[in-house]
Amino acid sequence: MNKFYFLGGRMIIEELHQHIADKNLKYWLQSFGCQMNAHDSEKIESMLEQIGYIKAQKEADANIIIYNTCCVRENAELKIYGKLGYLKTLKKKNPSLIIGLCGCMMQQDIVLNTLKEKYKFVDMIFGTYNLYKFPEILKTRLETGDPVIDIWDTHKEIDENLSSLRKYHFKACVNVTYGCNNFCTYCIVPYVRGRERSKNSEAIINEVTNLVSEGTKEIMLLGQNVNSYGKTLDPPVSFAELLEKVSTIEGLKRIRFMTSHPKDLSDELIDVMSRNKNICKSLHLPIQSGSDKILKAMNRIYTQENYLNLVKKIKSIIPDITLTTDIIVGFPGETEEDFEETLKVVKEVKYLSAFTFIYSKRTGTPASVMENQVPEEIVKKRFNKLVNVLNEISLDYMKSQVGTSVQVLFEEKSKSNAETITGRTDTGILVHAPASEDLIGNFAYVKITNAKTHYLSGEIIKEELQ
Ligand code: 5AD
Ligand code: SF4
Repeated sequence: MNKFYFLGGRMIIEELHQHIADKNLKYWLQSFGCQMNAHDSEKIESMLEQIGYIKAQKEADANIIIYNTCCVRENAELKIYGKLGYLKTLKKKNPSLIIGLCGCMMQQDIVLNTLKEKYKFVDMIFGTYNLYKFPEILKTRLETGDPVIDIWDTHKEIDENLSSLRKYHFKACVNVTYGCNNFCTYCIVPYVRGRERSKNSEAIINEVTNLVSEGTKEIMLLGQNVNSYGKTLDPPVSFAELLEKVSTIEGLKRIRFMTSHPKDLSDELIDVMSRNKNICKSLHLPIQSGSDKILKAMNRIYTQENYLNLVKKIKSIIPDITLTTDIIVGFPGETEEDFEETLKVVKEVKYLSAFTFIYSKRTGTPASVMENQVPEEIVKKRFNKLVNVLNEISLDYMKSQVGTSVQVLFEEKSKSNAETITGRTDTGILVHAPASEDLIGNFAYVKITNAKTHYLSGEIIKEELQ
């Protein structure tokens, strides 16, 4: 069954290739939202390139435009509707332009109905479960000229086995789980990405081994909650076991993973992280709120005390670890005292950085019908205060790094200075250094000379070209 679908996809790609390649047709793909979406977009991009489309330099030049949408917060959705206005004008100028929408937003009936009623110029709509069907959907659109809408409301047991086009040859993402079972009361993800499914551990090991043999040095294992990986596999495999196996892959220099739900982070995992040098000493551990009352209303399952004890344990076993987090400000019922509890945790944990979000009401989630929604002006004030506190902590930490030598994997040219390149330390800190582009994709030691809130800069003292 799996093979049938996969072979079908491959055959359709080849068929489309005969019609598309050599025609200089261009694509534009834009990804919104999280790392998971970014990785899905790489898979779509890979299919587009295999079909024979070429990446457009600007959106207006494209023959096919795909938006991979996000609906985690309302702002992300509004952005898409705003962009659709622009696409309508492009389509008026060029009626043969093909417009496709996919991703989380498409999994909501309300969005689908709005698109069908008011945005009839959209050619293809598909969801999060049937990404791999993209070639078939495109073929149907090209052959019939009719819009194609293909949304599945649940996951079907199909091994996607999709290759992805990688932005960097030296680092890559690999999904370990899809979906989420946690139902945090503010979050729409379990409704649009479905129940948690774990990828077979052998398939993950094979995928990483292949990537490493192609030159990948750094791997990011991805899942909404990697810590609950493997519970439904037969036999079950824990995330710690998987991580340890991945860490033994010859030639793999760095392993990162995200996201970790604090309630599922095991002692076994901390032990595996502490024992294996190539597992990065950084952990993304979303707290969401520091108040026990709010954590309960969010259905996060842990208390402030549980969380702080966990952090204490992690730091005692891995002292040089850096922690990052996600925080929501203005969840329904959040009082000034609740918010102060969040600030207290932030000051105690001393996060390297945090993704901070203003609570966004998502239709269909339990929190959207909770009373005591917090007024916008109050939330904004709290949000600004939180960002200031986080920035102060980050700057203090960054300053403490001046004078040290850090190992950096260089990733790209700096955006602000043509003479410098940028990379990351094992602990996830951004480092700029003046150096030749040849060092991109390689490790080097950098002596830190300057610290800013969100990055360090310094001089290269030793290159490790490979
Ligand atoms: N409002 C604000 N932030 C949200 N997140 C998820 N749902 C919402 C929402 N309704 C944030 C959480 C999560 C991150 C990916 O997005 O902090 O960890
Ligand atoms: Fe959403 Fe909670 Fe699942 Fe994260 S763990 S995806 S916040 S429901």
